[in-house]
Amino acid sequence: MPFINERLEANRESIEKDWAAAGPVRVSRFRFEPDAVMSRLRDKIVGQDEALVAMEAMLVRVKADIGEENRPLAVNLFLGPTGVGKTETVRLISEAIHGNRDGLCRIDMNTLAQEHYAAALTGAPPGYVGSKEGHSLFDLDKVQGSFSKPGILLFDEIEKASKEVVRTLLNVLDTGRLVFPSGNREIDFRNTLIFMTSNAGALEAEAHDNQFQKGWRRWLGLSPGSGDAIRDAALRKHFDPEFLNRIDQILTFNRLTDNWLEALLDIELAGLNRRLSRKHAELSLSAELRAELCRGYDGRYGAREMLRAFRQRLEPAVARALLSYPDCYRFEAGFRYKEITVRQYVK
Ligand SMILES: Nc1ncnc2c1ncn2[C@@H]1O[C@H](COP(=O)(O)OP(=O)(O)OP(=O)(O)O)[C@@H](O)[C@H]1O
Ligand SMILES: [Mg+2]
Repeated sequence: MPFINERLEANRESIEKDWAAAGPVRVSRFRFEPDAVMSRLRDKIVGQDEALVAMEAMLVRVKADIGEENRPLAVNLFLGPTGVGKTETVRLISEAIHGNRDGLCRIDMNTLAQEHYAAALTGAPPGYVGSKEGHSLFDLDKVQGSFSKPGILLFDEIEKASKEVVRTLLNVLDTGRLVFPSGNREIDFRNTLIFMTSNAGALEAEAHDNQFQKGWRRWLGLSPGSGDAIRDAALRKHFDPEFLNRIDQILTFNRLTDNWLEALLDIELAGLNRRLSRKHAELSLSAELRAELCRGYDGRYGAREMLRAFRQRLEPAVARALLSYPDCYRFEAGFRYKEITVRQYVK
């Protein structure tokens, strides 16, 4: 079975040759640049500066390779409301490190809501169907990475998992290993960046902040505790202290306010233009259309609201224009009489 040690060994030889060639300098075994990963994150994620600063510290620590040997490389929990960039951050890290947004193993904990689903992670116990094969949801290549690249594992919506499943994870977080109940198999997580996301406490903390952290109550000092305290209380309600203690950092992603809409719009437009460039086309937006796309933004749905407007309103109009003017390569989208119009760009 191609466990990580064998693969690390295979990779090690070629890297060691490079080390020898590099002379007496301190070279990390990891072939990724924290700066390059961060510049991608800073280009594509808005409004989450605190979380990004923490990501930078994590990446530098991992690159220096000075962490404990018998633990995962890093264990992070991202908290926050829906559509604010939690999953996207992990995908972008994967893209920057592995050249592929889907170079990570994502496990939707929603699907592991019942006690007996722990077997989906660890394989069935001896005597049960499937125990010999040792099937598991983990994609080993993506979890274990390689000698020069860390594996990336994302547990999405961790609060939805059953207590039994979370208990199974304790060992993973603690020792970096998971031994299957059948005893004949083990997965190694010591070369893995582990991310978990959760909405737990997000609504409560926000409702609290809205009520007490603004206006006259705040000035009069009537706030009973901070949103952070509420969040921590909610976390403790969902998770055992043993679990929380094994997490390196718990980061809160903020709800995206109106101030970030223009920046979000530019990110989405850049994405659309990247796809259009494959069709030899380029799109710009009029000021009226920009204002329209930012109007009616409902913060409760996060950035997905903006994505929806792009997909449902702008893209069909652009698609029609592309097909109508096959020889034109510059287009401008505007907004007139409550409709999105796309016309050929005239210099
Ligand atoms: N802070 C952000 N900056 C830029 N784009 C964002 C941001 N947050 C979200 N987006 C966009 O919205 C989409 C949805 O975001 P994401 O999947 O990260 O949400 P999430 O925080 O994981 O929410 P959920 O809890 O619902 O899973 C992303 O694909 C991305 O395009
Ligand atoms: Mg998500």
